[in-house]
Amino acid sequence: MSEMIMILNGPNLNLLGGRQPEVYGSDTLESIETACRTHGKALGLDVDFHQSNSEGRLVDLIQQARTSCAGLIINAGAYSHTSIAILDALLAVDVPVIEVHLSNIYQRDEFRHHSYISKAALGIICGLGAHGYELALDALARKLGTTKGST
Ligand code: DQA
Repeated sequence: MSEMIMILNGPNLNLLGGRQPEVYGSDTLESIETACRTHGKALGLDVDFHQSNSEGRLVDLIQQARTSCAGLIINAGAYSHTSIAILDALLAVDVPVIEVHLSNIYQRDEFRHHSYISKAALGIICGLGAHGYELALDALARKLGTTKGST
């Protein structure tokens, strides 16, 4: 039986492809979603993929994940650096959380070096672009035992 993984994307990630491609790459969020669905399927994972510019909507979705998902992948965008509300929601979810950033936040502005989300994350992947989402799926598949993956 396949497990459900929620993948959450925060503010401005709907603009991927055209938004600072030198920082975030040329993949659109739609192409990332397609790649996640395909990769997830091969790992025995179903993907519930969302993007919102609203902090409250992201908190609502994380609360839903408590009962609907076996794992959660989150790129909270700029809310990573500001949102205690998203951290608290993640701490209330009893499933493994992987934090993803497309860019290497440690090579960038100092205000991006701290993420509130990290305190709730099993692991953090940053700087590997869209591939980071697939690596996060690999990690969850290994953790949940749906595959004999190589991670
Ligand atoms: C980001 C990094 C954040 O600092 C930034 O605010 C984003 C995207 C990333 O994926 O690299 O919106 O989370």
